[in-house]
Amino acid sequence: MSLVKPTILVTGGAGYIGSHAVLALQKAGYEVIVLDNLSYGHPELIQEVLKVELIVGDTSDRALLANLFASREIAAVMHFAAFIAVGESVVEPAKYYHNNVVGTLTLLEAMLAAGVKKFVFSSTCAIYGMPKEVPMTETHPHDPLSPYAASKEMVERILADFDGAYGLKSVAFRYFNASGADPSGLLGEDHNPETHLIPLALLTALGKRQSLSIFGTDYPTPDGTAIRDYIHVSDLADAHVLGLEYLLAGGNSDVFNLGNGNGFSVREVIDTARKVTSREIPVVESPRRAGDAPILVGSTQKAREILGWNPQYADLTTIVSHAWQWHQKRHGNS
Ligand SMILES: NC(=O)c1ccc[n+]([C@@H]2O[C@H](COP(=O)([O-])OP(=O)(O)OC[C@H]3O[C@@H](n4cnc5c(N)ncnc54)[C@H](O)[C@@H]3O)[C@@H](O)[C@H]2O)c1
Repeated sequence: MSLVKPTILVTGGAGYIGSHAVLALQKAGYEVIVLDNLSYGHPELIQEVLKVELIVGDTSDRALLANLFASREIAAVMHFAAFIAVGESVVEPAKYYHNNVVGTLTLLEAMLAAGVKKFVFSSTCAIYGMPKEVPMTETHPHDPLSPYAASKEMVERILADFDGAYGLKSVAFRYFNASGADPSGLLGEDHNPETHLIPLALLTALGKRQSLSIFGTDYPTPDGTAIRDYIHVSDLADAHVLGLEYLLAGGNSDVFNLGNGNGFSVREVIDTARKVTSREIPVVESPRRAGDAPILVGSTQKAREILGWNPQYADLTTIVSHAWQWHQKRHGNS
């Protein structure tokens, strides 16, 4: 029996979460090919740090995909490639529906044409909208409040229909806030523009930004700021390997939340960043933003029970410390 594990195509692998998934796949012994159009990705992380094959191309390039699936034996696809900025999706919905829905549909059709029928998909907790209960389980009603969130919900619907009609088996992971960095400090978060709280706090600590905005200080929470669920990106990556193995073992299509299970307020995150960095982080208190919920926390019981997922880095100080290591390396410790 061959001990060589199958080859996995990772779209968007040059991005934040995708690059951590590539590392987790490598550690688990898989061959990996990355497809990324580099609209936002960082090729040096793939080529120099992870030393994995990078194909620069787009998920909506039919000819490239047909060639790729014909020339390589690919057992499954992990699909991270998407545009991710919620605010931008409101003003440029066509860009988001095109890339996130049409791009994914084209990829799925190319997979089916080549007989590849295992798919791991990056979905989002944003498909739930305003929480009706906390923690939110996978059965929480859907109410996507932005084209970004709607684009992910549409793909989940496509996946359900493609299973029914074509037998394509998928795992869709609904992430809460991806955060932290690989403990080695070699991979981490570098979005441009950056919209996530922890990197913004650390960039402020590094003096790359003058101040950090807190949107809303009058929420019905203990310190008045919004509470979110921060999940370490290495724990997310491990869940993807488990999701893949569940599918390779013949598992049925399913959806899983991936979160911390605990919520942390904006002030708690900033205080933790101050402690970890021993730096000042000036804040500007601003009004609430439309559409922001007071509390978003997910239940992760299903992923733990069905996939055997056991997150290692749920502690906020650990998450922020790992991110700080990366940020200092990436942006200089001035
Ligand atoms: N970051 C989060 O907190 C979060 C939360 C929920 C869901 N997600 C989802 O996780 C996935 C990864 O997010 P991320 O934070 O790593 O984003 P990212 O921007 O760092 O990575 C996305 C990667 O996809 C590539 N890409 C985009 N469109 C492409 C296309 N058409 N063809 C090929 N490559 C393409 C980009 O160049 C980039 O490298 C996304 O699907 C996102 O919607 C992220």
